[in-house]
Amino acid sequence: MQLRKENILIVDDDLNILELLQRHLQSWNYHIYKAISVKEAVIILKDTPIDLLITDLKMPEVDGFELIKFASEHYPKLPKLIVTGYPSVQDSLAAIKSGVVDYLTKPFTKDELMVAVNKSLDSEKIGNKTSEKITTKNQNSYGEIIGNSEKINDVIQIIERVKNNKATIFIKGESGTGKELVARAIHYQGKFSRAPFIAVNCGGIPENLLEAELFGYTKGAFTGADKTRDGFFQAANGGTIFLDEIGNAPKSVQSRLLRVLQEKEVVKVGAQKPEKLDVRIIAATNGNLKEMIKKNTFREDLYYRLTVVEIDVAPLRERKEDISLLVEKFLYKYGIEYKDRFVKISPESSAVLQRYNWPGNIRELENVIQRAVIMCDKVIEVEHLPTFLKFNIDFPTSELVSLKEIERKYILKVLNATNNNKTKAAAILGITRKTLRQKVDD
Ligand SMILES: Nc1ncnc2c1ncn2[C@@H]1O[C@H](COP(=O)(O)OP(=O)(O)OP(=O)(O)O)[C@@H](O)[C@H]1O
Ligand SMILES: [Mg+2]
Repeated sequence: MQLRKENILIVDDDLNILELLQRHLQSWNYHIYKAISVKEAVIILKDTPIDLLITDLKMPEVDGFELIKFASEHYPKLPKLIVTGYPSVQDSLAAIKSGVVDYLTKPFTKDELMVAVNKSLDSEKIGNKTSEKITTKNQNSYGEIIGNSEKINDVIQIIERVKNNKATIFIKGESGTGKELVARAIHYQGKFSRAPFIAVNCGGIPENLLEAELFGYTKGAFTGADKTRDGFFQAANGGTIFLDEIGNAPKSVQSRLLRVLQEKEVVKVGAQKPEKLDVRIIAATNGNLKEMIKKNTFREDLYYRLTVVEIDVAPLRERKEDISLLVEKFLYKYGIEYKDRFVKISPESSAVLQRYNWPGNIRELENVIQRAVIMCDKVIEVEHLPTFLKFNIDFPTSELVSLKEIERKYILKVLNATNNNKTKAAAILGITRKTLRQKVDD
């Protein structure tokens, strides 16, 4: 299994150049991130550990110098390489001042590119690691994690404590709360960030294959095993394996996992000899493992091994103060995705978002904003939000009731909102006062 090489971010508004750079760099096994504007590049820089920034200078809107300035301020140790048409003397001086290592003038040959990239990355080895970038817990975000509520700050504190050791971590939380995001932050903010991060959805792989996929297998271990193969664990060696939906792992996988945790070694399916491994395990679930233990479908001893450190990611309804920050981030994200569709949100719409219960948590919020960005012109008004948000009735999601009951509760809500003004309430509900009275008296 080939270990991942450095991450290189290439920025150019000329798609042909981007493609050319990508082709060359990938042939040398670098990991490539592409951006066609400075705005996009900044987002990638914030979210990803980048080892080398290669940028064009002349770009519409914001030019490459601004990007270099930004990168020098936030990631002083990140090496930068400029690829440009003939640079002016001023440009060259400015670039050198801002800490650019090298220049590549278009058109360039593959060899010239290789020399320049090697030189830049070499300078990086003299202690210039970007993964040592100062972790950006500014007030409202930590890496990709947005939020400033007490609950999210508690999570960030735990991440800070665990990111540089290999303790096993267990992440709990409802669907869409950001469990995978937290797992990635633990890996990428810590000192093992250059080693692989491998996410495995234990619920997404058929039960009979999961064991072989995770731990590898030997030739002849089962029909179709025509050669010996590594599994995800071997691939993650030195780094992190993220076992998502761990509750779906069958018993056979559970006992092998227990062995990995106890002995720090794995045995391929069909093999006798164990292999030593150094992998941090992060497991996650949105289910209830304690219930599963009671039903004897999840091993209790494994549970205790997995939960050395527990991180509980709270549902969005318990940290509503994060909603507006998240909305801001998603407006920006989709503004870029839909090519400069930067829109605003009206106070009324924000209020609707605040009142809603968010059973699908942040994923649901993101979907709502994405849709609204498409639907609106310049401002997201209430009409651009899905109907179910506007008629949100605060039931616990577990409470299943009849339509009649929902109707009654909603009518009472409208009456309450109109200070018991039956004429107004009937108008909002689109029914006559008489019908309203009948429905309330029912
Ligand atoms: N605090 C946050 N800041 C920014 N984006 C977030 C945050 N939390 C979640 N997201 C985004 O919401 C989406 C869902 O997050 P994620 O996939 O991590 O959730 P999950 O808990 O793993 O969900 P599931 O249980 O359904 O797998 C992702 O697109 C993620 O980037
Ligand atoms: Mg997930």
